[in-house]
Amino acid sequence: MVHHLHDFVRETNLTHDEWRKGLELLYQAGEISSPERNEFVLFSDVLGLSSLVDMVNSPADGTPSSVLGPFHMRGAPNVEVGGDLIGDDKGVAVVVSGRVLTTNGQPIAGAELEIWQTAENGLYSAQDEQQPDYNFYACMKTGADGRYLFSTVRPAPYTVPDDGPAGELLHATGRHPWRPSHLHFIVTAAGHRTLVTEVFPSDDPYLDQDAAFGVREQLIMDYKEGNNPGDLPDDLAIKSLIKAPFYTVDFDFVLVSK
Ligand code: BEZ
Ligand code: FE
Repeated sequence: MVHHLHDFVRETNLTHDEWRKGLELLYQAGEISSPERNEFVLFSDVLGLSSLVDMVNSPADGTPSSVLGPFHMRGAPNVEVGGDLIGDDKGVAVVVSGRVLTTNGQPIAGAELEIWQTAENGLYSAQDEQQPDYNFYACMKTGADGRYLFSTVRPAPYTVPDDGPAGELLHATGRHPWRPSHLHFIVTAAGHRTLVTEVFPSDDPYLDQDAAFGVREQLIMDYKEGNNPGDLPDDLAIKSLIKAPFYTVDFDFVLVSK
């Protein structure tokens, strides 16, 4: 890294003013950081560094990984397969299902999925005091068939925090702070590499301009509009409460063995 830094100074003929500005940004990143906010991680995200580290460490097969983001919380409540995340919230219902598979296509029973997303207002409960703790955060274990299933609402696009130096960098380079809407997942199973990833709807307007560079072709899925709740799986806990129009999403996770 030191060699590259020295080469950067030579190649750009870095001036004293530019060097001072760089150091000032780092100082401000330290000033604005707290246990709840790490501006250095945000710098890494908006510079595409987090994603590049992900890419160079991703196995060739299996579902690609993507950025973790700052809103993951441990200790989310356990929800059974077929369970509901909507509760009393508003939003368009989405039924998300799929399987956790090995690279040979075998279902993995007992795989654990951590799931988190924004509410309809584009905020995670981790950052929004108006929402109950762990709203739209859940842990689910796949059944013998490797299947998972839950009901939720459509997540909303949102902006990364842009009131600090990482935001200054975004604005100075003519970029916006928006991320496409997504569902976050961490998928864990014995004998397999843990997968940290996100899944994006194919009709999101920010897919090709994610401020955090998290989008990968294989992580884009279709939200299919459904009109007949009777077609939904019988083990969906709130099947009888879902009204048309709703969406369904089918996404399989493929884990690479260790
Ligand atoms: C997120 O997906 O939660 C996120 C990722 C990178 C930066 C900010 C937020
Ligand atoms: Fe996110």
